[in-house]
Amino acid sequence: MERPAWAPQGIDLTVPSVSRMYDYYLGGSHNFEVDREAGRRAIEAWPGLPKIIQANRAFMRRAIRFAVGEGITQFLDIGSGIPTFGNVHEAAQSADPSARVVYVDNDPVAVAHSRSVLEGNDRAEVVSADFRSPQDILYSAEVERLLDLERPVALLLVALLHFIEDKDDPWKTVREIGDELAPGSLLVLSHSSADEGPMRNVGGGVRDVYRQTSSPLITRSRTEITRFFDGFELVEPGVVPLPRWRPEDVPGTDDPLLLSGYAGVGRKAGRVG
Ligand SMILES: C[S@@+](CC[C@H](N)C(=O)[O-])C[C@H]1O[C@@H](n2cnc3c(N)ncnc32)[C@H](O)[C@@H]1O
Repeated sequence: MERPAWAPQGIDLTVPSVSRMYDYYLGGSHNFEVDREAGRRAIEAWPGLPKIIQANRAFMRRAIRFAVGEGITQFLDIGSGIPTFGNVHEAAQSADPSARVVYVDNDPVAVAHSRSVLEGNDRAEVVSADFRSPQDILYSAEVERLLDLERPVALLLVALLHFIEDKDDPWKTVREIGDELAPGSLLVLSHSSADEGPMRNVGGGVRDVYRQTSSPLITRSRTEITRFFDGFELVEPGVVPLPRWRPEDVPGTDDPLLLSGYAGVGRKAGRVG
């Protein structure tokens, strides 16, 4: 298969990438036939998938506006994905032009495309790193340049942790990163779950598709997801299905399709400033 100019050298074009599949669900153009084929099979198993992804992006933007409303202007977005409509830096910088954003992803296409989208923006950068090696993120030149970790930061782990297996202890890594953040920092996360909604029935089929991709999909219970907030105080309304987190004008909140993922925001306890 021919490699288009935007695709970095050395990427594996035979294995579907979860980042490029996500780009496909969102109608982006940074994906290959292998990703579209896996994406189509995932949608076949779970027709609600594109809708839940829109709900996930809408949650993320509401959480960013909430963070800016709390006076937070620094964002660390790990598992940021291939830039598409309504990115974190756009939402944050339109709410507060001084906002600074560091994106992190381990997918070469996500990193390369982020770099090209961010050219000329001196308040947003991307780091090529893996969540499972948090020191590579926290001590990166980009974080040192753009973020002041002595002041509150919004840490975004949006639709990331369901790609990190239990054997890699994602709870420990979230705690390690949280320990480096100033009191008043926010943890913003969303995560797929088969507790409620159609994932209870279709979860097996969707997980089968993801087992053949760059990262298997791990659904977790609300209790397991809530444990990621250890060391943080949950803000209202706690860990809830995506569209129920501080809805603004989202119609169809009771759509059972949208119960397949949980979202929450926590604030790091301790004296601020
Ligand atoms: C489903 S996308 C989510 C994108 C964005 N956060 C959103 O919610 O719209 C998940 C992203 O996490 C990235 N990812 C998966 N495992 C990762 C890891 N171990 N370290 C860094 N990024 C990872 C994937 O490459 C992908 O771009």
